[in-house]
Amino acid sequence: MEAYKVLIAVISITALSSFTHGAPSYGTASTAQVLINYVIPQTIKSAIKEYIQHSLVKMPNLTRQSCSSTQPLKDNLAIAYKKLLDFRSPLYMAFSYEERQGPQHAHLAAMIKNTSYYLNGSIAVMQRLITKRHFPVPSVQTSISETDLDHFCRGYLQSLVNNNLISLVITNDVVKIYRNYLIFYTLKAVNVEISNCISFK
Ligand SMILES: *[C@@H]1O[C@H](CO)[C@@H](O)[C@H](O)[C@H]1NC(C)=O
Ligand SMILES: *[C@@H]1O[C@H](CO)[C@@H](O)[C@H](O)[C@H]1NC(C)=O
Ligand SMILES: *[C@@H]1O[C@H](CO)[C@@H](O)[C@H](O)[C@H]1NC(C)=O
Repeated sequence: MEAYKVLIAVISITALSSFTHGAPSYGTASTAQVLINYVIPQTIKSAIKEYIQHSLVKMPNLTRQSCSSTQPLKDNLAIAYKKLLDFRSPLYMAFSYEERQGPQHAHLAAMIKNTSYYLNGSIAVMQRLITKRHFPVPSVQTSISETDLDHFCRGYLQSLVNNNLISLVITNDVVKIYRNYLIFYTLKAVNVEISNCISFK
């Protein structure tokens, strides 16, 4: 039971009430929501808002299986574990990018690092839940590479531009910013699914 509590605390991503380092305050928004808002510079925010309305695209090649109360716990835990693993390397990509952007992005980079730290903790907790019950730990999947993910994001942005859905100059930075946004946006959605996985007994 204790382990479940830890995990839920970890993956629901701490609620923050305010920011100190010049970042806007989002009331009781979750860290994930704050990251989503904060990761997008104002300049391309309206464009991003526009394209979100046109598509609910998620990161490619995520674990597709869903948890359900009719499945054995063994399967639900395995699915949750794999869903968490999907984000381990993308969070590191997001962190590395923001860290390179200098002092103005230091706080954002720290938040992403925190999220990465909690995600890693969640993966470890999940692994313990699995091994404690002598279930097999799913083999580590190779997650999507940075090059492939960036390529996917660039192609997606380009298709929106080509269809006159947004007007945006697609620089490498725009690709990375959108990619980081996509990572957090997807993580936020997947978090809900993962909480479902562990709510079934
Ligand atoms: C990281 O998480 C801890 C615990 O929730 C929190 O106290 C700290 O302020 C967080 N750091 C950042 C930069 O968000
Ligand atoms: C989380 O784990 C990955 C893979 O082991 C590692 O590269 C990354 O640095 C870890 N994140 C933190 C914040 O320690
Ligand atoms: C997703 O996986 C498929 C099959 O492994 C691969 O062909 C495809 O290139 C991957 N997509 C991306 C964006 O990496």
